[in-house]
Amino acid sequence: MTKRRFPKPPEGSWTEHFGLDTAPVSYEDSVSPAFYELEREAIFKRAWLNVGRVEQLPRAGSYFTKEIAAADASVVVVRGQDGEVRAFHNVCRHRGNKLVWNDEPHEETQGFCRQFTCRYHGWRYALDGSLAFVQQDSEFFDLDTSQFGLVPVHCDVWAGFVFVTLAAEPQQSLREFLGPMVTALEGYPFDRMTSRFGYRTTINANWKLFMDAFAEFYHAPVLHAKQSPGKYSAAARQSGFEAPHYQIDGPHRLVSTAGVRLWEKDPESAKPVERITRSGLFGPWDQPDLGELPAGVNPAKCDPWGLDSFQLFPNFVILIWSQGWYLTYHYWPTSYRTHVFDGNVYFVPAANARERVAQEMAAVTFKEFAMQDANTLEATQLMLESRAVDRFPLNDQEVLCRHLHKVVGEWVEQRAGAAV
Ligand code: FES
Ligand SMILES: [Fe+2]
Repeated sequence: MTKRRFPKPPEGSWTEHFGLDTAPVSYEDSVSPAFYELEREAIFKRAWLNVGRVEQLPRAGSYFTKEIAAADASVVVVRGQDGEVRAFHNVCRHRGNKLVWNDEPHEETQGFCRQFTCRYHGWRYALDGSLAFVQQDSEFFDLDTSQFGLVPVHCDVWAGFVFVTLAAEPQQSLREFLGPMVTALEGYPFDRMTSRFGYRTTINANWKLFMDAFAEFYHAPVLHAKQSPGKYSAAARQSGFEAPHYQIDGPHRLVSTAGVRLWEKDPESAKPVERITRSGLFGPWDQPDLGELPAGVNPAKCDPWGLDSFQLFPNFVILIWSQGWYLTYHYWPTSYRTHVFDGNVYFVPAANARERVAQEMAAVTFKEFAMQDANTLEATQLMLESRAVDRFPLNDQEVLCRHLHKVVGEWVEQRAGAAV
């Protein structure tokens, strides 16, 4: 039997170690329309938000749009002739038409162009946002075209992830905002994992409740019991599930879990379809060779190690699996009780059909789990809104849930203080 090596938990509890309160919490921040309005101003119009990856912009003229309902914004992100990635408000400077969209004005789009052309009166904009053509320009009155370029949005790229912020003047650079825990992931081969499978759905629950569902894993043997072999989920329920490592850095947080390659120890424990495809929730059983990983991955050196789930404030998760792939979650609020959930899984491109099947198996297994979580959350939202109960106890495995709600509250308070 291999010896398990885990970092020692801090004295007392994780919750106290991070200086968090241990009292029961209120979820009023997830059921209050008024609080949602404050969040929009304090968080979604101010924080750095991940809107995609550089692989979506392979060459000059590649673009995609991002709808950010919580900030009342649509943003177009484009790679310029000089190779730079820029972002602009997706608004024509003539009479305010939405500049880039396809058939349905609320939907996102992507593509390639040499210029952006407004479909109302044909104004055209270069890839750097400057106004390049005005229909019947001689009939305007002293129109200085240099003053009517697209309105820029602050945009920066870290490790291939494209971020924007709608703040007029960001208080921190992207690197400062991400902080040392997240930037220590630099060097992870995100750029090699270009085989991507994505899911998007609207969830009838507050965005923070879904973040909470991926911030602790001890619900897994209960909520997802039917997904794992009965004897293991029963054993896990009995002995309890404990994550070996939690970490907090500014508004961001991390949980690492211990991984047990059950399929190696006990192949019979895997479902027939898992044995055939050599894949499952943890990903393809046969790992790509990624070389040495940066220090930011599995920072506590958990052994065995299963995954790291980095929750980047406010609404972005990067989850790195020990099996050599990663996934991302985004939670885009559309009201206090609804959000759009994007889940994407990324692999090193398959070299043959067997590898491709293994990746597809991991992608659909992920979707099954996410749907179970989502379903439960809609039930949670409904009951929280009943306000029959107003205080909820959280245990030490729920330390990151506590932290998210605390940070959200702090940003809202800070903004309210600044506005006075
Ligand atoms: S609104 Fe865009 S050209 Fe008129
Ligand atoms: Fe779950």
